[in-house]
Parts: sequence; structure tokens; C-alpha cells
Amino acid sequence: MVSILINILIILLAVVLIKLILISVIFSEDIKAAQRRDPAAKSFIEIILLYSGLHALIYYRIAHFFYQIHLFFLARFYSQIARFITGIEIHPGAKIGKRFFIDHGVGVVIGETAVIGDDVLLYQGATLGGTGIVKGKRHPTVGNNVVIGAGAKVLGNITIGNNSYIGANAVVIKDVPPNSTVVGVPGRITKQDGKKMDVDLDHVHILDPIMQSIEELQDRIKNLEKK
Ligand SMILES: CC(C)(COP(=O)(O)OP(=O)(O)OC[C@H]1O[C@@H](n2cnc3c(N)ncnc32)[C@H](O)[C@@H]1OP(=O)(O)O)[C@@H](O)C(=O)NCCC(=O)NCCS
Repeated sequence: MVSILINILIILLAVVLIKLILISVIFSEDIKAAQRRDPAAKSFIEIILLYSGLHALIYYRIAHFFYQIHLFFLARFYSQIARFITGIEIHPGAKIGKRFFIDHGVGVVIGETAVIGDDVLLYQGATLGGTGIVKGKRHPTVGNNVVIGAGAKVLGNITIGNNSYIGANAVVIKDVPPNSTVVGVPGRITKQDGKKMDVDLDHVHILDPIMQSIEELQDRIKNLEKK
């Protein structure tokens, strides 16, 4: 009896070991991305076993495979298991590039028609969502090397250009050109191509006319005070 139990234990351990090896080979790029992007990550094994962002991605890759071969129920089933375990909801129809990393994870939502490039980092609570109930492409397209901050909402069929940063809690509802930093509600560009935006002079990239008016009024008050 004892020897049977020991054999079962050995088989279980072997299965877990094989699973770990497979995950570390198949997802090595994603694991390295997590290691690179999270200063708190100490080891490969820690990421494989304890990072919910990686677990959600593994479930997503399986669900996406089922989605592609039109097994929609199974695909959704997998994505719901992932949501239950990790608190991250990635629709199996979304397209996600290489070296994708979700840090902390919980509360992340990625919609069905979202497209995400390579080397993208999402923090907890980030949403790539739609703005209504229209069918067709209704979620954002995110370029390569983009960071989407904690709690940020990127909504609608818009494009976030390569190498952009979306600030924590920003709400972005318009296209963002490459190499931009966007903050606030609604999101406005504060930096582009490494330069701080001169909000008063830039009338093309301002996404928020109310903010612009307030800034103009502030300037007028400053000038009046000087006089
Ligand atoms: C948006 C972000 C990328 C800006 O980084 P940055 O380019 O270094 O910009 P700075 O820190 O120089 O800030 C530029 C301006 O934007 C403001 N700002 C920065 N982040 C902001 C945010 N999330 N919301 C509103 N305003 C913000 C700053 O106060 C500053 O304003 P000022 O010019 O009037 O002083 C960064 O602040 C951010 O939000 N990153 C997300 C990180 C995250 O979610 N971490 C979670 C870890 S658990």
C-alpha cells in the first residue's frame, strides 16, 4: 500500500516537473519579460509558480488557440477559469504579441477585438475596452513597447502608438501618437518624443478643451497679478 502511494507521488511530481519544464520553455520569452520589467521578481521559478499575470497569459494562449479553431465555448471556458483564478479577464479573441507582461494583474480586462503588440506592460486594473455595444472592431490597438498604468482605461477602436506611456488612472478615448505620455481624464499628452508638451502652444495634440481653457485662464490671472 505504502509503495503504491509512493509511486503515485513520484508520478505526480514527475507530471508537475514536466509541466514546469514545458512552461519555462514555451513561455521563456514572457517569463524573461516579467523578470526584466518587475524589479521585485527574484527568480524564474518564482515567476512561473506565483505570477498571476503569467498564469493568465498561459490560459489566454490556450483559449486563443481554441478561439482560432472556432471552439468558442471552450475558449470562453478557459478564459473564465483564468479570470476566476487570477482576477484577469482576457477575451480569447484578443490578439496579444510577444513578451507581454501583466504586473500584479487583478482587475485587468482586455476586450475581444483588442490588438496588443510586442513588449507591452499592463498594470493592475488596466482596461482595454469598448465604448458601446457596436459590433466589429471596438477595442484598442496597442503598439509595441507600450506601458499602460494601473487603473488606466483605454476605450474604443483607437490606436496607441509605439513606445507610449499611459499614466495610472488615465482615461484615453482618442488615438495616441507614438512616443507619447498621456495622463488624466480625459487623457492628454504631456510628453512626446522625449519633450514636455507646451500645453498652451500645442493645439493639435490637446485632447481636453476644458483643461486648455483653465490653463489659459491661469495664465491670464498670472499676467494680471504681475501687472
Ligand atoms: C504617466 C507616467 C508614465 C509619467 O511618467 P513621466 O514621463 O516620468 O512623467 P513625470 O513623472 O515627469 O510627470 C509629468 C507630469 O504628469 C503628471 N503625472 C504623472 N503621472 C500622472 C498620472 N498618472 N495622472 C495624472 N498626472 C500624472 C506629473 O505630476 C507631472 O505633472 P507636472 O508637469 O504638472 O509636474 C507615470 O507617472 C505613470 O503614471 N506610470 C504608470 C505606473 C503605474 O501604473 N505603476 C503601478 C505600479 S503598481
